[in-house]
Amino acid sequence: MLIDTFGRTIDYIRVSVTKQCNFRCQYCMPDTPMDFYEDENHIPLEAMATFLKIAIDEGIKKIRITGGEPLLRKDLSTLISSIHKYAPEVEIALTSNAFLLKKYALSLKQAGLERINISLDSLKPDRIIKISKKDALKSILEGIDEAQKVGLKIKLNMVPIKGINDDEIIEILEFARSKNITLRYIEYMENTHAKNGLKGLKEVEILDIVKRKYPLKLIEKENFGPAKIYVLQDNYVFGIIAPHNDDFCKTCNRIRITSEGTICPCLYYQESVDAKPAILSRSTKQMKDALLESVQNKPEKNLWNEEMKTDEISARAFYYTGG
Ligand code: 5AD
Ligand code: SF4
Repeated sequence: MLIDTFGRTIDYIRVSVTKQCNFRCQYCMPDTPMDFYEDENHIPLEAMATFLKIAIDEGIKKIRITGGEPLLRKDLSTLISSIHKYAPEVEIALTSNAFLLKKYALSLKQAGLERINISLDSLKPDRIIKISKKDALKSILEGIDEAQKVGLKIKLNMVPIKGINDDEIIEILEFARSKNITLRYIEYMENTHAKNGLKGLKEVEILDIVKRKYPLKLIEKENFGPAKIYVLQDNYVFGIIAPHNDDFCKTCNRIRITSEGTICPCLYYQESVDAKPAILSRSTKQMKDALLESVQNKPEKNLWNEEMKTDEISARAFYYTGG
């Protein structure tokens, strides 16, 4: 078992398979030119699979594949099926913007993918263009339908931003409910790569808007997850991820690895372990050591709070660490 110095069991790893993305979301990397493709020093996915199998042997029970946009890596189904065959009991999930999902949903499901989280920040085509710089709404909606059709479990993610999409909080909830899909609102996390001046809605503000239309009840904190779960009177369940809340980090069970093989024990902190040489060496001992070192380095909590100054906000890009 992987247990950190604060007694938390680490059984969840998020794997970013690429920094590249076909979107340029305002809260993520709006200023990176669309045609900019940084030369990446990707870990080959077959070597990443070997590392993940070692992580599974050490106690990892859930793997989430993220990016950038993970579906830009063509051999993703091979990575998934390799892990799934090795450990069918390990849950494999994906976070995607869904632009390419219609094409890949079936092969991902057949490879052993269980769940997918899809970003959906607006249901207005022009607004999606404004938020993500891509005329993508039609493809996203088709991707959602296809994922549902092939039997993937789906969650939708919305990041409500003041003056941008906060007037769609109810519409998106109703859309998700009509499709019987769980929605999670995610508080905007400040970072230096995002568009200047973005103001995200905090949990209480989101709840106030929902409550005005639908009476709701807090059920519980998601089991071993970062979301708080609410239920409407008709039993529709949704969640809010609020990393600005004080108790957010107490139950953190996760670490992250980037597409270049850097293990990050916390999204906020710059501390990391370069596991690339270990992974490329294919040495089980070296990979295990890198993993244990990162768990030992896991800090107690993040520093997102109201008083944070600009020079203190996270400088590490979400598209690098995988959000
Ligand atoms: N704040 C909150 N959520 C973010 N995401 C990406 N960047 C941020 C940010 N700065 C989330 C989006 C998307 C997922 C990939 O990560 O919700 O769905
Ligand atoms: Fe791409 Fe996701 Fe970042 Fe948007 S938030 S630019 S979809 S990686």
